[in-house]
Amino acid sequence: MQHPAAFENLSREDRRFAPTEEFAEAANVTAAAYAEASADNLAFWAKQAERLTWAEPFTQTLDWSTAPFAKWFVGGTLNVAVNCLDRHVAAGLGDRVAYYFEGEPGDTRVITYSQLTDSVCQAANVLTSLGVKAGDRVAIYMPMIPETVIAMLACARLGAIHTVVFGGFSADALKTRILDCDATVVITADGGFRKGSVSPMKPTVDAALLGCPAVRSVLVVNRAGNDVDWMPGRDVWWHESVEAASPVHAAEAFDSEHPLYVMYTSGTTGNPKGILHTSGGYLTGCSFTQWEVFDLKPETDVYWTAADIGWVTGHSYIVYGPLSNATTSVLYEGTPDSPHQGRWWEIVDKYQVTTLYCAPTAIRAFMKWGHETLANYSLESLRLIGSVGEPINPEAYMWYREHVGHNRVPVVDTWWQTETGSIMISPLPGVTHGKPGAAMKALPGIVADVVDDDGVSVPNGTGGYLVITEPWPSMLRTIWGDDQRYVETYWSKFPGTYFAGDGAKRDDDGDIWLLGRVDDVMNVSGHRLSTTEIESALVSNPKVAEAAVVGAADALTGQAVVAFVILRSEAGDGGPHVVHELRMHVANQIGKIAQPRQIMIVAELPKTRSGKIMRRLLRDVAENRPVGDVTTLADTSVMTTIAAGISTGM
Ligand code: WTA
Repeated sequence: MQHPAAFENLSREDRRFAPTEEFAEAANVTAAAYAEASADNLAFWAKQAERLTWAEPFTQTLDWSTAPFAKWFVGGTLNVAVNCLDRHVAAGLGDRVAYYFEGEPGDTRVITYSQLTDSVCQAANVLTSLGVKAGDRVAIYMPMIPETVIAMLACARLGAIHTVVFGGFSADALKTRILDCDATVVITADGGFRKGSVSPMKPTVDAALLGCPAVRSVLVVNRAGNDVDWMPGRDVWWHESVEAASPVHAAEAFDSEHPLYVMYTSGTTGNPKGILHTSGGYLTGCSFTQWEVFDLKPETDVYWTAADIGWVTGHSYIVYGPLSNATTSVLYEGTPDSPHQGRWWEIVDKYQVTTLYCAPTAIRAFMKWGHETLANYSLESLRLIGSVGEPINPEAYMWYREHVGHNRVPVVDTWWQTETGSIMISPLPGVTHGKPGAAMKALPGIVADVVDDDGVSVPNGTGGYLVITEPWPSMLRTIWGDDQRYVETYWSKFPGTYFAGDGAKRDDDGDIWLLGRVDDVMNVSGHRLSTTEIESALVSNPKVAEAAVVGAADALTGQAVVAFVILRSEAGDGGPHVVHELRMHVANQIGKIAQPRQIMIVAELPKTRSGKIMRRLLRDVAENRPVGDVTTLADTSVMTTIAAGISTGM
């Protein structure tokens, strides 16, 4: 396990926070849901699927006969966009606000369900005119603006598969993803606003497309007004096409298992994995869990997931969950400290946000900036706050509870993954007596366990691997184009059981604490990064002979990237300019988020006799700990050399 120290701390935690009686009484979900689901899991999910509007009802809840390839809600057909839009308009909710959009420079837009429906139909008509058909792949590389949501839903409406690529990724990373899923159309913007200035996007797309001959059209939103190159015949302005198109579009119903999107995420080996989500099961999962975990009251709540649409949290809890539930959401384009460190709290007060969902890394940044800033805001509209993306340390949880929640609102620490599609382990806000830093229990309908190396359930008070033992509706269906990797990555370590890649502990009460990844995946500010991917990027620089990357504990970002690099002899012995060049190189290859916090130039790397790099030992160095057991190293003196080299600044 990676974090043995965490076990110690956790076992001493005895604080409990029960919901108020008032909250519990009005809660959407009560403790009875656990019993109902465990009595008949499939019946439980069949009931939750009734939240959606099906064109053809399903005839079988789950077909698991070709496990681990699942088919949920077999025989059912639906249109995901219609479930998010048209049906609400038809039910008389057309004037309800879908999004309060707040641009970073301070521009705002209020978008109702009718307006959003019209825009999505217009965009669907334009995509059709660009030749997009059901099953085609469309890449979306956009800032956090309403058009991003419109683009996703327009794809969903047509049955086209979107792949949203996080706007911070480099041209190379974008190209790899476009090629992997064979996208033929890209939707982007000239640029977006970030930290007070324009961050261009179209130039990155232009550069990526030099290597993507199959892309025939690029639809470009005019957002930031920066100059862009234009390729006539390929590039189309959004405002000249979408905004002029007909808002009438008849949506077709697709099979429940029709693919909805591919989201790339880092794995333990080189290339990112395209996680495939499909329609009926995914939407059931997002829709039900948003209602359940956030105790959603769509008539009165103003819900804000402060995450990026380019990650799964944005897909499930900015777009698909909220819209399927006719929620009013906030969509904010920028960073939390632009133009000042109170921006989030200003937004909470301005829109009377009731529910805030964000990552511990943001909470730790606010802690660092000081709680005095928050005292300038009321925050009284909040009635529930949530956390996602990485383990929340008890200090951050308590700070969040006190300074944001004013010690009066439930905090939900939600564990899930790109692969799980929706929240899996979380307190139920009207039921659970939450503990600071614990995700607590699998939600009703989800069956999780903590097991040892042999796959045997561990007793309370011990740690092991987190697994999910029953299929669930919003589970990934495969890795795009690589069924075998899907089976190997998730279903082979413990055959028949989903292996999440996370370490977990069950405390004396049987409650679950997440302890971070047990594989070579790092979690930096809630972003998943693969050690091998960054190593490959480093090694692709001609100055580098070999590289090893580890995630080292970091007070602000959870983990930080630390690289150990052996230079080729012709590169000299390193020095600040080489380190700078390598950091820039990683930014160009993957994106700024992958830049190492530290690059240490070393003469050798610690390897086992079979040649495997022992990252555990490098992590000891990166975290300034005494180096652990070196007996399995081929050459036990290597660590002494590394440590000595680093202390002399070599
Ligand atoms: C980690 C984000 C502890 C975990 C939704 C998981 C968490 C990875 C939590 C997935 C949490 C997510 N407590 N760890 N509440 N939530 N994680 O795919 O290591 O970007 O495997 O999905 O984040 O990251 P992903």
